[in-house]
Amino acid sequence: MAKISLMPCAMLLSSTALLLSLVDVAIAQDVPASAAEPILSRGPVFVEQTGEQLYRNVCQACHMVDGQGAAGAGNYPALVNNKALEAGGYPLSIIVRGSKGMPPVGAMMSNEQVAAVVNYVGTHFGNNNSDAITANDVAQARP
Ligand code: HEC
Repeated sequence: MAKISLMPCAMLLSSTALLLSLVDVAIAQDVPASAAEPILSRGPVFVEQTGEQLYRNVCQACHMVDGQGAAGAGNYPALVNNKALEAGGYPLSIIVRGSKGMPPVGAMMSNEQVAAVVNYVGTHFGNNNSDAITANDVAQARP
């Protein structure tokens, strides 16, 4: 009898330990961006400023590390050697307006940030767009 009544008690203890360790994880993740690289930008407006940082923390989750895209549960187009990136207007429009499975992530960026990330993808991953867009172009393209 005594053994049986101890069982739920042990279970309670171990689930409390699990809860505590989850709290630990939540606290550990709440360190400032400078102390650890965040995997996803946080807050209502992205804090990253360079095209590379914005790509890593906003776009990479869907378009993958080297822009190779992914197909599976969804279809995330590859940005590698992508003719659609030869001019800035098309990626600019997609970023500020969204398109099907792609949210309008540009709504959470300044004009400078959108320009930086459009110019970044246009000049990386084998793309060679020499016609950089400006913050003013972004302002015009916003919905
Ligand atoms: C939540 C996932 C997600 C995020 C985050 C995301 N994208 Fe996308 N992106 C998509 C999907 C899905 C599509 C395909 C949309 C469609 O079919 O119309 C797409 C399409 C695109 C295209 C058009 C590609 C083509 O060949 O037509 C570009 C360019 C692009 N994304 C760039 C970016 C950039 C730059 C960022 C970061 C600022 C970004 N995306 C963030 C999911 C995402």
